[in-house]
Amino acid sequence: MAYKHFEAIEKHAGLLGILIAIMVSIGGLAEITPLFMEAHSLKPPPGVLPYDPLRLAGKDVYVREGCYLCHSQMIRALRFETERYGHYSTAAESVYDRPFQWGSKRTGPDLARVGGKYSDQWHRLHLMNPRQLVPPSNMPGYPWLAENKLDAADIQARMRTLRRLGDPYSDADIAGAPAAVKGKTEMDALIAYLQGLGIRNEPLAKNPATPTPASQGGAP
Ligand code: HEC
Repeated sequence: MAYKHFEAIEKHAGLLGILIAIMVSIGGLAEITPLFMEAHSLKPPPGVLPYDPLRLAGKDVYVREGCYLCHSQMIRALRFETERYGHYSTAAESVYDRPFQWGSKRTGPDLARVGGKYSDQWHRLHLMNPRQLVPPSNMPGYPWLAENKLDAADIQARMRTLRRLGDPYSDADIAGAPAAVKGKTEMDALIAYLQGLGIRNEPLAKNPATPTPASQGGAP
């Protein structure tokens, strides 16, 4: 009896197509809905703070210049990744990243934990012309960033928008932005942003409750 029903469905391409579409939609919803719920309930771990004004400006420069086209900011939980880049990335580390910069294209190395790896001066020279420091590099230079000044009013507007989206900026944080970026260039902002990557998440990596690369079989 049941075979008859199946046969009827299999012999009608249109009906089969509609039923497949229904099944795939239900399956898709079952997979996607919990992820959305999870994303909304994510709490920043200790040490993960909203971007200060200078780093926020730097993050915008990073996005504008398309650094993400060559650099990911997501360390996968695989031994060869954690040995090279450090603790794998967790979703909660990116709660203040709008838009997040995870990416998957790695013409250059992952930058999720590049903060503190080099000096500010190294970054300055590297961003002016990467080949000064890494002769075979195919990364472009960004010398104009050293000349572009930051617009404090623009940064304040961004902070207000982020606050509306839920980031905990206080009135004092926003009022203090012009002083924080006074006289700074886009280059300064971008370097501050790079130097903060992964650093603000230090307590996460040190928290024994979170898995470490070693407990993942990552460290030798
Ligand atoms: C065309 C691809 C490309 C683009 C675009 C690009 N990079 Fe790179 N980047 C590379 C490559 C390749 C390397 C490795 C060689 C080197 O150090 O120059 C690199 C290295 C780096 C490093 C050193 C990482 C490490 O761990 O040694 C930093 C920091 C960096 N890039 C930042 C940036 C920033 C910031 C931008 C945007 C302003 C940017 N990159 C845009 C390709 C790119």
